[in-house]
Amino acid sequence: MIEPLLSVRDVSVSFGGVKVLDGINLDVRPGEIRGLIGPNGAGKTTMLNVISGIHPPHQGDVRLDGVSIVGRNPSQIARMGLGRTFQTTQLFRGMTVLENLMTGLHHRTKANLIAAGLNLRSYREEEEAAEEEARQALEFIGMSAFADRPGTALSFGQQRVIEIARTLIGSPKVVLLDEPAVGLSLNRLAEFDALLRRIRDEKGVTLILIEHVIRLVMDVCDQVTVLSSGRRIADGPPDAVRNDPQVIEAYLGKDLRARHSAS
Ligand SMILES: Nc1ncnc2c1ncn2[C@@H]1O[C@H](COP(=O)(O)OP(=O)(O)OP(=O)(O)O)[C@@H](O)[C@H]1O
Ligand SMILES: [Mg+2]
Repeated sequence: MIEPLLSVRDVSVSFGGVKVLDGINLDVRPGEIRGLIGPNGAGKTTMLNVISGIHPPHQGDVRLDGVSIVGRNPSQIARMGLGRTFQTTQLFRGMTVLENLMTGLHHRTKANLIAAGLNLRSYREEEEAAEEEARQALEFIGMSAFADRPGTALSFGQQRVIEIARTLIGSPKVVLLDEPAVGLSLNRLAEFDALLRRIRDEKGVTLILIEHVIRLVMDVCDQVTVLSSGRRIADGPPDAVRNDPQVIEAYLGKDLRARHSAS
């Protein structure tokens, strides 16, 4: 039995008295690509916010490599080996692609503002190392030619891939991706699928992927967890989850209600 790298135990979160996560359990083993799916408002992003320390859980525990992250802030959790992207694009305006990637390392850098202000040698050395790591991350995603372009001038799909590269340069153990394939055309999905596998296989990173592009989830994920209205309704290999009556009902139910209210 392989120990989970990420373990979520009985996690609940409420907003204004409404439970948006209700007793969630999740075990992700090292080297896994885990899908997290469910209808809009199911609690998927909230789950990632709990794991990355943005929302502390009101109940339950989250362990990364055996150590509880509860009570730690997002940058402490990042230093423990957790990277993430956000549902909306988060590249900084006025920065090149390379500079955007270098911001991914700042949680790790020892140099403080005083060292930066004095332009101390230790600070310059760290900056050089950060730049080198950022260049390697760009090469890994095959976008070295874009290093000096303004980040926000890239296509939406390219920005999403840059954001993924940014999570990699701190050598994380686990990376959480919130709808990374939004904006990718269908004929780029195979390429994206291959990128996720390379991140796992070559960088040794365990991935948790929220995605509405179900085909991508079913192709690339080893295990899929389904949330609906804050509850975990299914958890298992893609084929089992795809045919689970509760999962079909959760998706179809929403669909039918939406159609009903539109008519
Ligand atoms: N900070 C907050 N304050 C109040 N309610 C919130 C907050 N964040 C999320 N919610 C509510 O929690 C529920 C779950 O939201 P969440 O964003 O986790 O869903 P999701 O599964 O990521 O949905 P989507 O697929 O639309 O991104 C929603 O009803 C949402 O309105
Ligand atoms: Mg979301």
